[in-house]
Amino acid sequence: EKGGWSSFMAKEVAEQPEAVANTIRGRVQDGQVVIPELDGLDELFVGINRVIITACGTASYAALVGKYAIEQWARVATDVELAHEFRYRDPVIGDDTLVISISQSGETMDTLMAVKYARERGARTLSICNTQGATIPRESDAVVYTHAGPEVAVASTKAFSAQITALLLLGLHMGRVRSTLTDGTAVGELATLPEKIASVLEKEHDHVSQLASWMADTRSVLFLGRHVGYPIALEGALKLKEISYIHAEGFAAGELKHGPIALIEPGQPVFVIVPSPRHSALIHSKVVSNIQEIRARGARVIVVAEEGDAAVLPFADEVIHIPLAGAMFEPVLAVVPLQIFAMALATAKGLDVDQPRNLAKSVTVE
Ligand code: F6R
Repeated sequence: EKGGWSSFMAKEVAEQPEAVANTIRGRVQDGQVVIPELDGLDELFVGINRVIITACGTASYAALVGKYAIEQWARVATDVELAHEFRYRDPVIGDDTLVISISQSGETMDTLMAVKYARERGARTLSICNTQGATIPRESDAVVYTHAGPEVAVASTKAFSAQITALLLLGLHMGRVRSTLTDGTAVGELATLPEKIASVLEKEHDHVSQLASWMADTRSVLFLGRHVGYPIALEGALKLKEISYIHAEGFAAGELKHGPIALIEPGQPVFVIVPSPRHSALIHSKVVSNIQEIRARGARVIVVAEEGDAAVLPFADEVIHIPLAGAMFEPVLAVVPLQIFAMALATAKGLDVDQPRNLAKSVTVE
């Protein structure tokens, strides 16, 4: 039940520290990620030369974050394929391919059919799922459960952060099994993630909600991100479309000058997810120059940046802060204000955030 919350979505957004902590629990031993469900299944990860992650909607954006993590830590080429696109062509896969599927419900028909198809072609299959005993995990060689607890609101929030967490765990597990993991700090960072999410919720909830209530008449919002911030831009836009029915679009920041910058006119709200300068001064400076470009054309720039990132301050109309975290961990923090924003904007428009029009929680038809 909703408890004291105004909606299931509000409750589920607030439950994210717990959802992430529960997903990590029991999977770190002696400073290493060891996923008990994958015990004895090293052959899934050794001798492969390709990973395909398949999913739909929000789960496909979690998958995109997973691509960066698996490539960095497990050093294997990784691509993300929407399940309905993957299945309806003739993909080049075989027994050297690991197909990872991601599904909160474990019942999404397109994702299920992609898993069956991959198995028929001899690929190794692993699913990331939030529902014990669902069909997709039953059809897979292995499963890593997210422990987000039941998600009731149609718009996915805590399942998304738990999916990213499971992918980070999986990337670190694969990196250990494949002997490719050189990042000594990542495992330790996992444990700090829940409290950092709690701090974003605590510090930014009212600020972001107020921002949204001022913007109730907005007709279009753009989201820009680069590297792991790109999937978060896509997710921020999807949340807004789904529950506030506002036209929203997420872009890779580097694409701006290849087209989308033509959309910028005075007053256009643009969220920009800024990666920490500590991870890559180059990536950070590229995003800051994108901010300057849109600001010069009159965009109203709302920045999501690391605490203490002074470089963005002169060009931002609003700054939403997230705590310092490793590069792969930032997405779980950066998505939280975007979820709050979508929820507050929908509420300001008088909409039912839990039951958006035309949508069902689980899409069990193709
Ligand atoms: C968006 C949302 C959907 C689902 C998608 C996949 O908020 O909830 O985009 O992510 O329908 O659903 P699952 O994860 O159950 O396969």
